Amino acid sequence: MRVTPVFAVLCALASASPTPTVKESPAGANLQKRATISEVATLGYATQNGGTTGGSGGTVTTVSTLAQFTEAVDEKDATAKIVVVSGTLSGDVNVRIGSNKSVIGLKGATFDGVGLYIRRQSNVIVRNIISKNVKASTGDGIKIDESLNVWIDHCELYSELIADKDYYDGLIDASHAADWLTISYTYFHDHWKTSLVGHSENNGDEDTGHLRITYANNYWKDCGSRGPSLRFGTGHVYNSYYLNMDSAINTRQNAQILVQSNAFSNVTSPIMTKDSDIVGYAVAIDNDLGGATNTAPVGTITASDIPYTFSLLGSSQVAATVPGQAGAILSF
Ligand SMILES: *[C@@H]1O[C@H](CO)[C@@H](O)[C@H](O)[C@H]1NC(C)=O
Ligand SMILES: *[C@@H]1O[C@H](CO)[C@@H](O)[C@H](O)[C@H]1NC(C)=O
Repeated sequence: MRVTPVFAVLCALASASPTPTVKESPAGANLQKRATISEVATLGYATQNGGTTGGSGGTVTTVSTLAQFTEAVDEKDATAKIVVVSGTLSGDVNVRIGSNKSVIGLKGATFDGVGLYIRRQSNVIVRNIISKNVKASTGDGIKIDESLNVWIDHCELYSELIADKDYYDGLIDASHAADWLTISYTYFHDHWKTSLVGHSENNGDEDTGHLRITYANNYWKDCGSRGPSLRFGTGHVYNSYYLNMDSAINTRQNAQILVQSNAFSNVTSPIMTKDSDIVGYAVAIDNDLGGATNTAPVGTITASDIPYTFSLLGSSQVAATVPGQAGAILSF
């Protein structure tokens, strides 16, 4: 584990008081944020295991049709490529994304019905895309399966809260020992089964010791459940705002989740264990539960188990800060 002085300071502050350790830009500043297409993961578990660089340093291709996109991200070619997406790509189809790729959305770039599927790959970045209405018969908004080092950042994913909760599946799901994952600054909304990590009660042999995932600075609004639901793995959920949900963080099957610096508003069950034969665990530090109750068994994970540096807003800053900074708001 890499312990830097900054990290030591953050830990000391985090345990000593609820005072925010680092303040980010002004509350609710809903501005376009400048970024570059070659940026690499700088936060969460995706910074580990050699880091997540996607297509940085590789060729740059701009696509505006589904056929062009499918060819550009083809998993048969693992060379580094930055694939810049323009406009709306539609279809009831899953597109497989190969290793060493960055998928970068220009302003408004949208996958309408099109699922992104990262299977048996490594080192993939997806930033600034909108994903909507990917039907369960197609797949998930983004599905990560048997893959390592994936960073999903500044995306917006949604469907609609229709009566049939199974018409859509997950917005971002991960399974089969996927590992070293970060989901940051992402806006999830209007969806029932939001983010499932660990697809099956019976997959402990493969998943135990893997499924390490960070959720940082995300905004979850008007969702049913799975914010996330995590089996077997290790989770770190921080600086996230949850508004109007039935259940949010569900820790299952011996999962350990560190939950800190989050705010929940009108969330019936913010942190719990349910729907599994074997419970999971959470350690909750400085969360505003909005008057609701954390019912998950207390786990053993601590800030010193987290192998990367991180900055906490403090739960009192989250509601005013996170919604304005999450979603596909980057400009390149
Ligand atoms: C990704 O790129 C690196 C560096 O070029 C290369 O070593 C690696 O084999 C690539 N990944 C895959 C899965 O081919
Ligand atoms: C609270 O959240 C529920 C969904 O869990 C929603 O139906 C309800 O309208 C919300 N209440 C308010 C006051 O927004």
